[in-house]
Amino acid sequence: MTGFAVTIAPGGPTFEVRERERILVAARRAGVWLPFECGWGSCSTCKVTLVEGEVDLLFAGAPAVTVRDARRQRILTCQTTPRSDLVIKPLTVGSVPSAERPTTDHTGELIGREELGPDIRRFSFRLERPADFRAGQYAILHLGDGVRRCYSMSNRPGSPLVEFVTKRYPGRLGSERLHGLPLGGCVELELPYGDMWLRPGSRPVVLIAGGTGISPVLALLLQLHGAADPRPVQIFYGANSRAELVCWNELETLVAGLPHGRLHGALACPDTAWPGASGLVTAALAEHLQAADAGDHYLAGPPPMVDAVLAHLRERDVELTRVHYDRFG
Ligand SMILES: Cc1cc2nc3c(=O)[nH]c(=O)nc-3n(C[C@H](O)[C@H](O)[C@H](O)COP(=O)(O)OP(=O)(O)OC[C@H]3O[C@@H](n4cnc5c(N)ncnc54)[C@H](O)[C@@H]3O)c2cc1C
Ligand code: FES
Repeated sequence: MTGFAVTIAPGGPTFEVRERERILVAARRAGVWLPFECGWGSCSTCKVTLVEGEVDLLFAGAPAVTVRDARRQRILTCQTTPRSDLVIKPLTVGSVPSAERPTTDHTGELIGREELGPDIRRFSFRLERPADFRAGQYAILHLGDGVRRCYSMSNRPGSPLVEFVTKRYPGRLGSERLHGLPLGGCVELELPYGDMWLRPGSRPVVLIAGGTGISPVLALLLQLHGAADPRPVQIFYGANSRAELVCWNELETLVAGLPHGRLHGALACPDTAWPGASGLVTAALAEHLQAADAGDHYLAGPPPMVDAVLAHLRERDVELTRVHYDRFG
């Protein structure tokens, strides 16, 4: 064995974790199914008790890590690598993959890079086999030297292609690496993750995106469009400027093909020709979302936008069980 042995207590299986590898990834590779959800450190689902051994925490500031965790010897298997052989105690362990979370590892070759707006691009990767995901879910991309970042698929599943609408933040680690990848370059991807997939039913659908939150919303809209879904669908999309409201024409075309679809935009810095709402996406929600529209809500974007929309929906007594969201950070 070249790595470390990790044993599940009490008396559970033992599997190998390679040097600097995450416990969760190694367990999945070995067919040991530990609980997980987000895969990157925000949900706490993968928390286990460290019974014996030494570890390195790979994302000490992960949202799911609390000060009590260190005292109680609790670690996130998705963001921890062993420094010695370990014994860990999870709440549950399975021997078959969960049908809900069929996450697997892929290699993707960058075959397309489309300029959509200022520092905003759509990346297309060809995988070695068709990807099993639901519209609205995300992948974790390995961008070198242990840097992993989440990106939501913007295309429909069922082919070996995965696409992502992403923004480059100058000087920041993950997005610079992704935007610097040459055509023909390869990345490792884990997918799918996330719970922002379309629930069946007859209730109206409300899709809300801020900035690159349009990536999963585009995938959801493609699914609704492909199925000629009869539900009323409203899309609310906010960005800073008209140039950053990327994929707008694509959205208009898709919405026009829905039996009952409406598209609303909001710009924080509108020009004089902009006919939509001014301000944050909550301004468009306040203007157009009637109480009668209450349905299933799906939202994605930067944390301040997601928090503002959640507060807005709460004020309107929208049941939180009908709100599915991805906070991009
Ligand atoms: C579920 C989800 C879906 C997303 N989908 C998209 C998308 O479709 N398009 C898009 O442009 N962006 C998306 N993002 C945002 C994206 O993952 C990056 O946060 C963004 O590209 C900025 O990364 P950065 O490394 O350039 O910036 P940085 O400021 O270096 O890092 C930004 C974020 O990375 C996370 N992070 C830091 N260290 C670690 C670590 N060790 N492991 C894991 N995460 C870490 C933190 O959340 C931090 O807020 C998504 C984020 C999440 C959580
Ligand atoms: S799987 Fe969500 S914190 Fe680890």
